[in-house]
Amino acid sequence: MELLTALTTTGAFREFTSDAVADADLERVLDIARFAPSGGNRQGWRVIVVKDPAIRRGLRDLYLDGWYQYLAQRAAGLTPWSPTADRAVEAAAIEHAPDIAEAASPDDFSERLHEVPVLLALVVDLGELAAVDRDLNRYSFVGAASVYPFAWNLLLAARELDLGGVLTTMATRRETDANALLGVPADHALAGLIALGHPVRTFSRLTRAEVSSFTTIDGFGGPAFGAGSAVPSTL
Ligand SMILES: Cc1cc2nc3c(=O)[nH]c(=O)nc-3n(C[C@H](O)[C@H](O)[C@H](O)COP(=O)(O)O)c2cc1C
Repeated sequence: MELLTALTTTGAFREFTSDAVADADLERVLDIARFAPSGGNRQGWRVIVVKDPAIRRGLRDLYLDGWYQYLAQRAAGLTPWSPTADRAVEAAAIEHAPDIAEAASPDDFSERLHEVPVLLALVVDLGELAAVDRDLNRYSFVGAASVYPFAWNLLLAARELDLGGVLTTMATRRETDANALLGVPADHALAGLIALGHPVRTFSRLTRAEVSSFTTIDGFGGPAFGAGSAVPSTL
């Protein structure tokens, strides 16, 4: 597959056919994903292929907890769990999560997470993260950059085999319980759950903001950089 096509059409796929994904195909995807970058090339990612129906269902339940809270915050016009959020406003929004849970459709991706063809738990060894911003007096995020490129590589690699999927993070709201289910050691964190399968819909060009909307020259408040997209709209 052409790189430009893969980069501009690899969206989040949450609906899959009933076709199984062979272990050999999954191994090939992981074999390509492992070439992702990480700080100091520490490669702190660990992957658990979750096949056991009871563990899958348990993870789905934990995921749903965060998912309904996410929807409640979205309904209140918030960016869910933003590090800069007003916690009182956020808590008030989350109080409506049970109402959202009650109205949820049993056919949604979240409700059927345990049924996806491939369910991966992405775990990271905290001892392998070069979290350069760890000691700053603000939310630390550099460590995450040593694991999520692996997830993205994995989703791009999946394209090579006509597979699609999505990285999800809702279950990390219940990380302690999720890690207990999976036997993850205390010095490791749950970075997310990844669903993979044969997508029902086709790949098409994604919707993203233009370069000039997020790029400036010589300073944050400088003039916009970028005159318009050169990526063909036919992709
Ligand atoms: C860090 C991260 C966390 C995400 N968590 C979830 C999630 O918990 N559940 C979900 O359905 N999608 C999740 N997504 C997928 C995003 O919703 C998706 O990438 C975004 O909406 C863009 O979708 P598109 O590529 O199809 O345009 C996550 C994506 C990222 C990068």
